[in-house]
Amino acid sequence: MVHPRNSSTNRYPLFKEIFGEVKGQTVFDFGGGSGNLLYFSEGNIEESKYTCTDVSRDSVNQGKLEFSKSSFIQFNRFNWMYNHEGSTQLEFPEVDKNQDYIWAYSVFSHTDLDEFVKTVLWLTSFNFKKIAVSFLTFNEMLIWAYNKRTNEYGNCVDIKKYINSKRNILYFFDNDKIIFDDFKLPFTRHKYLLTFYNENFLKEIFWQHGIEINILHPRDGFIPFLVINNV
Ligand SMILES: C[S@@+](CC[C@H](N)C(=O)[O-])C[C@H]1O[C@@H](n2cnc3c(N)ncnc32)[C@H](O)[C@@H]1O
Repeated sequence: MVHPRNSSTNRYPLFKEIFGEVKGQTVFDFGGGSGNLLYFSEGNIEESKYTCTDVSRDSVNQGKLEFSKSSFIQFNRFNWMYNHEGSTQLEFPEVDKNQDYIWAYSVFSHTDLDEFVKTVLWLTSFNFKKIAVSFLTFNEMLIWAYNKRTNEYGNCVDIKKYINSKRNILYFFDNDKIIFDDFKLPFTRHKYLLTFYNENFLKEIFWQHGIEINILHPRDGFIPFLVINNV
């Protein structure tokens, strides 16, 4: 599945607010699909300094065709929604670890916590300046997801009632199934998986792994980012 490119999928303003100008710097887009971030940066991210990795072969192939000076790397890891044929054993791709700015947008809203934590730990082993990773929390995005699924499929389990919930994690599968608070999900295949986290819980989990995270809410504030500065 290739993530769409249209006016509602332009994330560059969020990237710019968190990282500022990145001309001449290397950028690693984890789960970056076909390179929408690079496209919407309109040259502010240099094509030759951009590396993207994704589990979706079609996305990576499309990115390679469009941006021949960048590095697009497919890695065939299983994902509950995007890559049912992938391996559950293969953890990370082979990439150049000299990456100044590391970005992952809406990737861990489609995985379990275990994968989220392991990947962020791997990213902190890079030679980086700043990492920014988006996630979903128990806010208006629950209403947005509920309305979207109801409009598209006619029905949806009531996830909007969990707005401001004190739960730690909510996994929402397809239209009808919810699992709370498990760290690790079984490798079952779904058309749709959205994961919501309690922000303080996430901070605590990363702190237990020796990583201090800041949580920022750029622009409209609905999508929080976990931000790590290399000190
Ligand atoms: C909602 S799309 C967002 C795409 C892109 N980040 C953007 O903002 O345009 C989620 C992307 O994450 C990718 N993905 C999911 N799990 C992944 C993983 N473990 N490693 C790399 N990419 C992953 C999917 O294939 C998909 O392209």
